[in-house]
Amino acid sequence: MTDEAKNKRELWAQFEVECKACWKCPLSEGRTHVVVGRGCPETAKVLFIGEGPGKEEDLTGKAFVGAGGKLLDLLLRGLRFSEADYYIANIVKCRPPNNRDPSDAEMQACLPWLRWQVKSIAPKIIVCLGRIAAAQIMDKNFMLIKQRGIWLKKADFDILATWHPAAVLRNPGKKITWFDDLVKVKTLLNGETQDSD
Ligand code: URA
Repeated sequence: MTDEAKNKRELWAQFEVECKACWKCPLSEGRTHVVVGRGCPETAKVLFIGEGPGKEEDLTGKAFVGAGGKLLDLLLRGLRFSEADYYIANIVKCRPPNNRDPSDAEMQACLPWLRWQVKSIAPKIIVCLGRIAAAQIMDKNFMLIKQRGIWLKKADFDILATWHPAAVLRNPGKKITWFDDLVKVKTLLNGETQDSD
């Protein structure tokens, strides 16, 4: 391992320690675990961003391990995403009570952690899972119904929003467009991977 990679790994480990000790907003008072994210921060080219941990994520400390996460994993595996290619994080890292939407103040308090992750991972592609992530990352008035599946180039990132897995579970009719959106991501990722080979 190069010195640079070693340094990056150490900084990430230190980041996790600090993030897990965060008390910057009231969500921290009700949490069991801070959910930092999951995946491969050292090699990820795609960063998926959800909303915030649900019950199972709060209990385990791992992102997207509930029913929605399992559905997402199934699709990623089906589309032959390699685990080394992605990382999954959230807008807020502690569970909002009863899975309510995080408040603006909670999101603003938590976003510096995500910004640090984006900078460290430096993904080529960002995928916003659902309305809350799209509003924070792409456009505060983002309308999933009209704008999902459309690439936005911002800074060095290609960004796309699609349905949140929980919305797909609630409404299986969304599966087709969800699949189409993730095919677009995989296609762009394949191009990126070949370019950098
Ligand atoms: N929903 C999210 O937005 N994130 C998770 O980690 C789990 C469920």
